[in-house]
Amino acid sequence: MNFKHVAILGAMPEEIGEITNQIHDKKEIFYGDLKVIQGTWNDVERKNKILISVAWSGWGKVSSARAATRIISSIYLGEKVDFLIFTGVAGAVSNTLRQWDIVIASKLIQYDIDARPFFEKFVIPAISKDHISIDDKLLKWTQSSLENSKKKDLNLRDFGTINIGKIATGDKFISDREYLEEIKLQIPNLLAIEMEGAAVAQVAYQEKVPFVILRTISDSADEEAATSFDIFLKKYKLRSWLLIECLLKNL
Ligand code: ADE
Repeated sequence: MNFKHVAILGAMPEEIGEITNQIHDKKEIFYGDLKVIQGTWNDVERKNKILISVAWSGWGKVSSARAATRIISSIYLGEKVDFLIFTGVAGAVSNTLRQWDIVIASKLIQYDIDARPFFEKFVIPAISKDHISIDDKLLKWTQSSLENSKKKDLNLRDFGTINIGKIATGDKFISDREYLEEIKLQIPNLLAIEMEGAAVAQVAYQEKVPFVILRTISDSADEEAATSFDIFLKKYKLRSWLLIECLLKNL
């Protein structure tokens, strides 16, 4: 991969972690109340310097789409953003998944969009598609970067299995197994559920910016979800940067 300026976006600071200590020559740009931090990240091993823009969007489709639009139009040292990483936590839908398992989205669906009778359920009218796919090469690159790093780096031992599959996005924190079962019936082979991925994917797709969406399972979207999420996030924030670093090291 030959990306020069990478945008890193998460809904909450805990989902990005230590980044602000890792980048140099920092500057801040404000778009209203949205802060974008820019700087350079040095890959010591490969003597490579990558330009970074990072932001926290807030929860939900509107906030994340707005932040995605802003961050991918930011320019740093004359370079446009040429790759977007969206990362954070998600609720497990598949019962094979546990806390700390990783899901790389291959397809993203906005499960709460429904413009029937004009369009089929889940179709996003602006693009006439009921899902957004990730570029196959980027998907394989993300998977192999994470798998190789996980074998070598003891710091990544807390993370579980690395999975590729469908992620669904909607404006609801799901803590109700019955509600989740309904979504599962409508979207077969769904792995995880969250509140931003498919909105960010739509923006990146329409803006023609290469992107990946990476999630770590925090809860099972069931009646215990809020408690599991809270406890998990406190541990996750100490590790979230490591996942991003895996990708940057393999660029
Ligand atoms: N992100 C993490 N857990 C979630 C859940 N249960 N519902 C929606 N988004 C989430």
